[in-house]
Amino acid sequence: MKRVVITGANGYLASVIRLYNEDHITFLPITRKEIDFSKPETVYPYLSNLEFDVLIHTAANAVTEFCAKNPELAHKINTEAAIEAAKAARDKHARFLFISTEQVFNGRTDQGPFTEEDEPVCVTDYGKQKIEVEQWLKANSQDYVILRLSSMFGMPIPHVKLSSNFLMRTWSALRTKTPAKFTPNEQRGMTYSMTLADHLDQIMELPTGIYHVSSRNDRTTYDLCRYIAGELGYRREEIETYILPDPERYADRFRDYRLDASKLKAHGIDCGTVEEDLARCLKDFGWKD
Ligand SMILES: NC(=O)c1ccc[n+]([C@@H]2O[C@H](COP(=O)([O-])OP(=O)(O)OC[C@H]3O[C@@H](n4cnc5c(N)ncnc54)[C@H](OP(=O)(O)O)[C@@H]3O)[C@@H](O)[C@H]2O)c1
Repeated sequence: MKRVVITGANGYLASVIRLYNEDHITFLPITRKEIDFSKPETVYPYLSNLEFDVLIHTAANAVTEFCAKNPELAHKINTEAAIEAAKAARDKHARFLFISTEQVFNGRTDQGPFTEEDEPVCVTDYGKQKIEVEQWLKANSQDYVILRLSSMFGMPIPHVKLSSNFLMRTWSALRTKTPAKFTPNEQRGMTYSMTLADHLDQIMELPTGIYHVSSRNDRTTYDLCRYIAGELGYRREEIETYILPDPERYADRFRDYRLDASKLKAHGIDCGTVEEDLARCLKDFGWKD
């Protein structure tokens, strides 16, 4: 069986990946107990004592505000420690699978969806920290896969710590009758997290390079959440009451950081449309037939 080190092992995406692949992959889970990624100097010594074929690096602090307020600490976690992990994989002749983000395009002023050939332009520390790792890999490694993910979504699974996502935020607003605001000044993708879990074997075999992972979405975030609410079965009046626009957020500049995932599709992994992806999730969790 393939031996796969997975960092951030108790995080949302790593948990889903492990849950649906542990029958045929030997995972070596790395949690905060094994390595504290705010201490990059500890990363290489720990990982180089392990035997593995692939290292999936999901650990990161992805909270944009945290990264902006603590740039040095966030840089250690998101960039320096990630590069140390990549060095350990390289020296073991193992493949490095790095989880990056759509946020690398959040400074672009033109319209998406962006391809892997488009130049990242980023205005946030979090995205810049991911770009630095991408650049290091391109310059220093010959065996890597970078997955730039759109916003990911899913529903609660026992013993899995779900990340905040548009589906759950929409549902929570309607279920608890607590109005929630979503910006109409943004367009981004949204992808069912199970896509990563279901296609892990194929992903691990992709040729070295960068791949965008995103379902196709033509709605603004506000319109997307209204659409989700409708698919969850809520009535128009409830949607009008609890799913509200937030016109102030990104009023300075419309943000479009949608990812074009055609390259991944050409390798047999089709993320489909956001409507198809949402329907797949709702069917999996018994909300739809
Ligand atoms: N979810 C999304 O929508 C999305 C979109 C684009 C990209 N991504 C990327 O995907 C990856 C996984 O995201 P996720 O949603 O699964 O996030 P998550 O649930 O927050 O998982 C991140 C993991 O990183 C660990 N971690 C953070 N700081 C650490 C440190 N100093 N030392 C050791 N471990 C540390 C966390 O450990 P604790 O559990 O101990 O806190 C957590 O298990 C991240 O790299 C993120 O940037 C996610």
